[in-house]
Amino acid sequence: MPVITCIDDLKRIYERRVPRMFFDYAESGSWTEQTFRENTSDFEDIYLRQRVAVDMSGRSTASQMIGQDVAMPVALAPVGLTGMQCADGEIKAARAAEKFGVPFTLSTMSINSIEDVAEATTKPFWFQLYTMRDTDYVSRLIQRAKVANCSALVITLDLQILGQRHKDLKNGLSAPPKLTPSTIANLMTKWSWGIEMLGAKRRNFGNIVGHVDGISDAKDLGAWTKESFDPTLDWDKVAKLKEEWGGKVILKGILDAEDAKMALKVGADAIIVSNHGGRQLDGALSSIRALPSILEAVGDQVEVHLDSGIRSGQDVLKALAMGAKGTYIGRAFVYGLGAMGQKGVEEALRVIHTELDLSMALCGRRRIDELNRDILLIPEAFEGRWQA
Ligand SMILES: Cc1cc2nc3c(=O)[nH]c(=O)nc-3n(C[C@H](O)[C@H](O)[C@H](O)COP(=O)(O)O)c2cc1C
Repeated sequence: MPVITCIDDLKRIYERRVPRMFFDYAESGSWTEQTFRENTSDFEDIYLRQRVAVDMSGRSTASQMIGQDVAMPVALAPVGLTGMQCADGEIKAARAAEKFGVPFTLSTMSINSIEDVAEATTKPFWFQLYTMRDTDYVSRLIQRAKVANCSALVITLDLQILGQRHKDLKNGLSAPPKLTPSTIANLMTKWSWGIEMLGAKRRNFGNIVGHVDGISDAKDLGAWTKESFDPTLDWDKVAKLKEEWGGKVILKGILDAEDAKMALKVGADAIIVSNHGGRQLDGALSSIRALPSILEAVGDQVEVHLDSGIRSGQDVLKALAMGAKGTYIGRAFVYGLGAMGQKGVEEALRVIHTELDLSMALCGRRRIDELNRDILLIPEAFEGRWQA
């Protein structure tokens, strides 16, 4: 096995191993990709304060997210089509998360179904819900997640309509891939991915195909999304979904303090400050830049989590020190999964854990609950001075 020292190592192997269509699907943002780029570059604008001669023994990254114990406050974000990055990808990622002691979130748009993942794991995972026009289907999904013993429902609020990613249109993204001459040429160079995929449990959307009335073929993600996602989703509907679920609810995709206050009103147990990894509104603020104003508005009343742009333990540390109680990685674990399956996700988690632990120590802190803004150097204009 190659020596993996950082998330970029996994990304390089991932790019070589996985068909271009799925690499591009993960590694792109919407339109000009400004928000996608700034999600990562804005982390670099924040500096860490090095402290010395502080007892660094007895360190721990253990913490809690929504009252659940976690080995570090870094969950796996819901990622659609994970089972196309690697055969049985959702099962492998969920097993890696379970082994490491962090939450795994299964996407509605997964390849392995809720039941597949429940069968392959022993601890409860989280289920991410996209709301669809077909309310019976949504109720059935919620019921299936309850039966599978999912311990939180993550409702995604920033994708009632789909942002445009140029590469997906050009590549004709589909699951399984459509066999055009260029796809075939590319697949011929990805034989190890292909051989594994031949033995996969599923090759299309396990939560949808066979479960949605009138849809037996969900190959074309774009077309299916357009006709099935609920463009009328509003806060009343969110409140009803919370009631229907009856357990812990995390609202994902909050980027504005006013929306954070609405999330509080409907009784969210946590919110995720997120711009969907730069895949929806291009030109929106990066998550790390949006975080301070949201914390100021609701941080003392609801658990605030963050995703988008995290590629290292230093990024995690910066988000936690700013005040987030939890973080999520999307692409960082996908790189690991595509590179080397379950082992790769474990490697991604190991890398991020090591970086978090050591950086925390070098800032003179030994525990997650000791983190605060004192260890950060944040540029004065970082939070923005926007015109009214
Ligand atoms: C390939 C890909 C697919 C995604 N699919 C979903 C999804 O099905 N549901 C969802 O709520 N978010 C989805 N997201 C967004 C992630 O949950 C998360 O917000 C994002 O990846 C965080 O940014 P990062 O990749 O920079 O860590 C997806 C992200 C990527 C990269």
